[in-house]
Amino acid sequence: MGIVFKEEKRVFLLNTKNTSYQFRIAEFGFLEHLYYGKRINEPVDYLPVRLRHGFEANPYEMMQDRSLCLDLLEQEYPGFGVSDFKTSACSVIHSDGSDCIDFRYVSHQIYDGKYTIEGMPALREKDGDWMTLEVVLQDVATKIEVTLFYGVLESYDVITRHAVIQNLEDTNIVLNAAHSACLTFPTDQMDQIDFYGSWGHERNAQRTAVRHGKTVLDSIRGVSGHYYNPAIILCDQNATETAGNCYGTALVYSGNFAITVEVNDFKQTRMVAGIHPDTFFWQLKPGERFAAPEAVMSFSGEGLTGLSHNYHDVVRHFVVPEKFEDQRCPVLLNNWEATMIDFDEEQLIQLARSGKELGVEMFVMDDGWFGRRTNEYRGLGDWQCNLDKLPSGIAGFSKRIHDMGLKLGIWIEPEMVSEDSKLYEEHPEWCIKIPGRNPTWQRYQLILDYSRDEVVETMFQQIYDEFKDAQIDYIKWDMNRSMTDRYSTALEPNRQGELCHRYVLGFYKLMEKLTIAFPNVRFEGCCGGGGRFDLGVLYYAPQIWCSDDTDAIERIGIQNGTSFFYPPSTMGSHVSVCPNQQTGRSVSIDTRASVAYYGTFGYELDPGELSEEEKAAVKKQIEYYKSYAAVSAFGDYYRLTDLGHEFAAFMAVARDRSKAVFTFVQFKTSANKGIIYVKLQGLDEDKTYEIPELSLELSGACLMYAGLPMPVIKADHTAKTFTLIQT
Ligand code: GLA
Repeated sequence: MGIVFKEEKRVFLLNTKNTSYQFRIAEFGFLEHLYYGKRINEPVDYLPVRLRHGFEANPYEMMQDRSLCLDLLEQEYPGFGVSDFKTSACSVIHSDGSDCIDFRYVSHQIYDGKYTIEGMPALREKDGDWMTLEVVLQDVATKIEVTLFYGVLESYDVITRHAVIQNLEDTNIVLNAAHSACLTFPTDQMDQIDFYGSWGHERNAQRTAVRHGKTVLDSIRGVSGHYYNPAIILCDQNATETAGNCYGTALVYSGNFAITVEVNDFKQTRMVAGIHPDTFFWQLKPGERFAAPEAVMSFSGEGLTGLSHNYHDVVRHFVVPEKFEDQRCPVLLNNWEATMIDFDEEQLIQLARSGKELGVEMFVMDDGWFGRRTNEYRGLGDWQCNLDKLPSGIAGFSKRIHDMGLKLGIWIEPEMVSEDSKLYEEHPEWCIKIPGRNPTWQRYQLILDYSRDEVVETMFQQIYDEFKDAQIDYIKWDMNRSMTDRYSTALEPNRQGELCHRYVLGFYKLMEKLTIAFPNVRFEGCCGGGGRFDLGVLYYAPQIWCSDDTDAIERIGIQNGTSFFYPPSTMGSHVSVCPNQQTGRSVSIDTRASVAYYGTFGYELDPGELSEEEKAAVKKQIEYYKSYAAVSAFGDYYRLTDLGHEFAAFMAVARDRSKAVFTFVQFKTSANKGIIYVKLQGLDEDKTYEIPELSLELSGACLMYAGLPMPVIKADHTAKTFTLIQT
């Protein structure tokens, strides 16, 4: 049973296969967190100890008794302004200007199945063994309610969270913060793993001890951003890839977010995750509700790999669109690095033809095909084909590509507008900028105001009209700037704090409409590379371009960080030209492919410029990916080494363990070295595996427990991929 309420102890037990999450209705109706971790079947309500700690502040009801204070009692959804002084989950300005909110239990209900969130993505119910718990809390002094939702997915060790705040007063209130989840641990002996970066350098895994004070991972750029991923792991200090307690939280949200970790002097660690309060205030009129985005929590007692596998399974099965769940992306050739914006139809046809000769399955036409787009300064906002560049139009071009036996993908950036565009000339008020202030430029473009329904509708109509008669198989949806100068002329001055979230809701609305209008089209998310890599985007697009940095060696770090929460099948990953356009580094075409196999494989170069030897290699690589994508992109992924050494190794194993793909990378060669042994993982210890590239046959036990000696590689920056096939 996924959710049980132990009436006599007033404890809620949320159980999954291997984990338990517990909280209770404590004195005066406080909802008190008790436990999250390995499964415990009985209530652990003995854990909280009421203690005076000095200088404590006490709830009024305690009268002369000073033993209960919210510094120590850890709430499931802490309010603001009373005796809990840590990061709050919710804060409100009431109509009288006061800002206290003090939630207490009112009622609850438990039911089979999963809640949904109107207008926002959330894990799908599908065939999962879901149960839902809703707990209603109300402020002690007003009729402001919060309903906490807990979705329990028993067989996947996942618990989802979400909150809805409702104003049942007869006056307006303003929400200053409305987070998705709060999680507390009764210890400060924990590490935190998060994922920082920048453009071209996304999702570097960083591990530090939690510390007194607040650490905030966030974005105020309008999108989840390159700088921090909206996901965090808290774990035992000695947790490794294969052992130890690890707790993950990932937001299903693509906009401004904040994840705060705070440790207090009582050795409590609190994590609060949700919409960023700095760019958020939301007016709630009488009767109105506000829904916070979903947070997905998981626990593994078996280390970081176990935690990643929980998330990978859930992302593949309950997040990405069902149609693409197990379907690999066709091997594609994208023209961006070969031509940039400057191309014409014949050039693209030529590129597509040379890709086809090597085995490519889909041609992707990137930025530059529409409106006045002859350079980066112009054209965004007009999604009509530029007939000077493509005289056949989209439908005609699509036919030419399909006649070659290829599928067609097209790049769009529908959230943007250039000042030099028809759309801007007609509707200068449709972009986000502050009247009387010059807007900040980024790539000479402005962001469309998706808080306005008419903007979302217009963009839908433009794209629908342009693509409806063409055969389009894939759409790369880009977003190439940060949001600044936040202002919507459609919102009253006192509602400007709603813009960022309303923008995200508009983005989801357009994605929803387009994915429904084009049900067979595979979408790929993109945001200046991997600047919006989150579960919200993955709900609509089964894959996201991982980074504009296509250097294979840099990509190892980027894909490694990404893999903690997101499976390889979601990572857009291509072989590009050398010297690499971002780093100037040259590595062999096989090294480039060895990294790109662990993602949605493709090419980002002009095949006509490859040497004959490279062309032969590309043909083999494409064949290899076609045979092994089910393993390298969709199998169980293992990080075999930490980064930062002279070598790295990673692998993926088919679900039935009959095959595996393993990659060894030597970053730096040196003379007269010893042999490197790598211990593989995830194999069947009793079965024998053939490794054709090494002419070896070894048992899973040998490969996992004794290890595999690596060949001596006399070169820097070289990756080798090996195949394991059960005999
Ligand atoms: C972004 C993307 C690139 C490419 C360009 C086109 O930077 O990440 O892959 O599509 O935009 O302008």
